[in-house]
Amino acid sequence: AIDTRTLRSKSGYITYDEGYGNTGSCESSITFINGEKGILRYRGYPIEQLAESSTFIEAAYLIIYGELPQRRQMTEFSGRVLRNARIDVGMHRIFEGFPHSSHPMAMLSAMLNSLGCYYPEMATNNRERDLECFDEAASLLLSKVRTLAAMSYRMKSGLPFVYPKHSMGYCQNFLHMLFSEPYHDYVPHDDVVKALDLILLLHADHEQNCSTSTVRMVASGGANLFASVSAGVCALWGPLHGGANMAVVSMLQKIHESGDDGSRFIEAAKRGEARLMGFGHRVYKNYDPRARILGEICEKVFAALNKKNPLLDIARRLEEKALNDSYFVDRKLYPNVDFYSGIILEAIGIPLDMFTVIFSIGRMPGWIANWKEIAEGTGRIHRPRQIYIGKNKRDYIMMKDRA
Ligand code: ACO
Repeated sequence: AIDTRTLRSKSGYITYDEGYGNTGSCESSITFINGEKGILRYRGYPIEQLAESSTFIEAAYLIIYGELPQRRQMTEFSGRVLRNARIDVGMHRIFEGFPHSSHPMAMLSAMLNSLGCYYPEMATNNRERDLECFDEAASLLLSKVRTLAAMSYRMKSGLPFVYPKHSMGYCQNFLHMLFSEPYHDYVPHDDVVKALDLILLLHADHEQNCSTSTVRMVASGGANLFASVSAGVCALWGPLHGGANMAVVSMLQKIHESGDDGSRFIEAAKRGEARLMGFGHRVYKNYDPRARILGEICEKVFAALNKKNPLLDIARRLEEKALNDSYFVDRKLYPNVDFYSGIILEAIGIPLDMFTVIFSIGRMPGWIANWKEIAEGTGRIHRPRQIYIGKNKRDYIMMKDRA
C-alpha cells in the first residue's frame, strides 16, 4: 500500500512508495505482465507460444524491434550476431589482469562497459549518434555478452579461452566456449541446447524489474548502451533478483544434505528463519508462467543427460507442500522463474556462480530494448525524491570539542 506520508515540494506532493511497489516509472510497449492472472507477453505474443515455437535470437529481435522478423531480417540479424562473436585481443589482456578469484558477474559487468572503449563510435553518450549505430551495437552486445560470459568462466577456472565457431548456433556456441577442451570439442545433446535456449528466451524481458529499471535510470541520464547494460548486470547480481537461481540450488543442496524431506525447511520459512528461494514475486501473485514452462521440461533435460537429480525431487516436494500451506497461499507465494531454472542449469553442468551470468545473457534483449525506448523518447532524467528522516539542522563541532 502507498504510505500516506507526503511532503510538499515546489512541484506538489511527494508520495512515498517504498520499493516502488505501486509506482509506474515509465510507459513501455515491450512487455506485458498481469501478475494476478500469471500472464506474460513479449510485444503482445504470449510467452507460452514463444516458448513453444520461437528461439532466443528470434525473441530478441521481437523484443528489440517490436515485430517478429521476416526471413530476410532474421538472416541479417543472426548474421550480425554471428559475425560479432569474437572479442578484441586487447580485451583478452584485460581479462588476464583479473585475479582468478574474481566473480564472473564482476568481470562481465566490467567487460561490457569496456566495450565502449573498443567501439567508441557506438558509445558517444550523444543519443542521436548512439542511435545511428544502434543496430550494430545491439547485435554486437547480444553476441559478445555470450563470449564474455564464457571467458569469465574460463578465467575463473584457470582454463584457456575457447574461440567461438562460425558453424554453431547461439547456445551451442556458448556451451562450446564453456566446456570444450584442446583437441576435444564439447558436443551437447540437442535437448540440452534447446533447454538453454528456452531458459534464455524466458528471461529475455520482464518489464520494470530491478535491473531493467536500472538500465533505464542510467540511460535516462544519456549514458550509452554499453554503460547502461553494464549497470544492469550489477543490479541483477543480488540474491533477491538474478542471484535467486543460485540461492535455490544452494537451498536444495542444504536440504538434501540435512536429510530433510522439505518439511522442516517449510516450517523454518514460515517462522521467518529462512526464505523459500524461488518462491514469491513482487508482481506475480499467481504461478509465474515461466516457472510452469521450465517445471515441465526438467524431466526431459534429465532424460537427455541420463541423470537423476535428487534436487528435483526435493523441489517438487517443496512446491507441493507450499502450494497446500496457508502461509504461502495467503501471501500468494508461488514458484517464480528461478525455482526450476537453477536445477536445469546445474544438470547441464553450469557452475553455481555462472547462473546469474546466464541470466544476464538472457536479459540482454530486454535491457537493449528498454535502453532504446529511453534513447528514442523525450522523457526527463529519472530522478525520484525521498522522505528525509535524518537529523534536523545542527552546527558543526570542531574535532577537539567532540565528545
Ligand atoms: N519465503 C517465505 N516467505 C516469503 C517469501 C519466500 N520466498 N517471499 C515473501 N515471503 C513473505 C514475506 O516474509 C512477507 O511476509 P509477512 O507479510 O508476514 O511479512 C510476505 O511474504 C511479503 O513478502 P515481501 O518480501 O514483502 O515481498 P516482496 O514483493 O518485497 O518481495 C521477493 C518479492 C523479493 C521476490 C520475495 O518474494 C523473495 O525474497 N523471494 C525469494 C527470492 C527470489 O526467489 N527472488 C527471485 C525473484 S524473481 C527474479 O528476480 C527473476
